[in-house]
Amino acid sequence: MKDIEKIIDEARELVSPTPEQEKEVGKIAEIIKSRTLEASKGIDEVHSIELGGSYEKGTWLKDHVEIDIFVKFSPKISRRKLEQLGIEIGKKTLSGHKWSLRYSEHPYVEGYLDTARVNVVACYDVAPDKWISAADRSPHHTKLIKEKFDSKLKIEARLLKKFLKVCGIYGAEIKTQGLSGYVCEVLILKYGSFMAVVEAAAKLSEGDTITINEATIRKDKFNTPLVITDPVDLNRNLGAAISSEKAATFILVSRRFTKSPSLSYFKETSKENQEDLIKTSALLKNLVTVIFNHKPRTLDVLWGQLKRSEKRLVKQLEKNGFTVWRSSAASDEDNSSGFIFLLESLEIPKIQVRKGPKADMSEDAETFLEKNHDQLELIWIGSDMRINSVKEKKIWKAEVLLNELLKGTIRDSGVAPRLKDDVKNDFNIYRGKEVLKTLRTNPWLIDKVLGVLTTHELSFGEDKPTQN
Ligand code: CTP
Ligand code: CA
Repeated sequence: MKDIEKIIDEARELVSPTPEQEKEVGKIAEIIKSRTLEASKGIDEVHSIELGGSYEKGTWLKDHVEIDIFVKFSPKISRRKLEQLGIEIGKKTLSGHKWSLRYSEHPYVEGYLDTARVNVVACYDVAPDKWISAADRSPHHTKLIKEKFDSKLKIEARLLKKFLKVCGIYGAEIKTQGLSGYVCEVLILKYGSFMAVVEAAAKLSEGDTITINEATIRKDKFNTPLVITDPVDLNRNLGAAISSEKAATFILVSRRFTKSPSLSYFKETSKENQEDLIKTSALLKNLVTVIFNHKPRTLDVLWGQLKRSEKRLVKQLEKNGFTVWRSSAASDEDNSSGFIFLLESLEIPKIQVRKGPKADMSEDAETFLEKNHDQLELIWIGSDMRINSVKEKKIWKAEVLLNELLKGTIRDSGVAPRLKDDVKNDFNIYRGKEVLKTLRTNPWLIDKVLGVLTTHELSFGEDKPTQN
């Protein structure tokens, strides 16, 4: 095993942008800023324009450059006005480039300039604790991190972000329910280095509270798997966005890394390698995948509908005799999504033994026989005096059941009402390895299929990662 410090040193090289990259991104940021200034000219409600997020904090990941720019508005204007002006300025800023409207707590404009993703976000220009919209804290986060972070801490934050990204737990959005970029920075601020964060995380337990302003926090105030207070607003729990599964993964990968450090924790597996891992999985034959098209909708709404539908479909499968080991929802976050189910078997026995009423309960027994006689293959009395019978199941293949459920021919199918009509008209079901054909055209499926199908090696296994 290589010396842990040596590995982290090598990783520092991996995550540090080159001076050329810094320059290039800096240039794009300046262009964005001047375009946003230009777009907001003459709008008196705009107080100022500020670059923010990981770009301004110097903690951006070099393979995922994103520039956030905040348009700070007078607190006197209404929410509607803020949204309307924010979108207007965002659109103007990115006119001539690819852009779309995204929704967080309120809408913002996302676009691409060269290789960088750009977010133009409206917020109120307010002092701490006078928050009006959720985005208002952001410029204060940026200010805090800029004040506290030297070049060394910036690299430590980048290390932590990359580590979490490779482990599949980076990002607080509902799709991931992991740790946000800002959480990484807060952790580095508290513990002082990447390694110190990982060592502390390895010892975390469910319900633990992490706070850098020790004094003020009441232990019972929040009830989430991990509690991480926001140093600019102690009433906000940054840990609220982290699911139990991702909190546990954070603890596990940290423990594993301290015991068995490796550079693999900082290197993402290529899509090709991921595909290979799927191809060679012994459990591929137990997989059934549904892919469908739908109208675009806001991300929180989409993921809410997908996750609810996934859970209900699992219930339906189980109700009909299938054993579901694992499941997942996946999406391109535009107009294609899917469900993935790993089953004990894609086909269950075609015939099924059922226990009827006791033979001496004459009325029940008669009704049972009247109702079922024609459909039963075999009837006998068991030692418990009950009428036993063997009946052929109408559906014994998972894909047939899913087809019925998704077509909407079975009432209460499980698909969320507002998604049902979209799904009904446009879905495909893939059994086992049939899914391989679709991975190229639907690369967004790869991560999730891999997640269901393989062991998370960074949590449980050897040094080599098998998924990100
Ligand atoms: N933010 C927040 N809570 C979240 C997500 C975002 O407070 N759950 C705020 C933070 O102030 C953050 C800013 O919104 O800095 C921008 O969000 P995001 O782009 O997700 O984070 P970055 O810090 O820019 O990190 P990166 O883009 O590198 O992931
Ligand atoms: Ca960002």
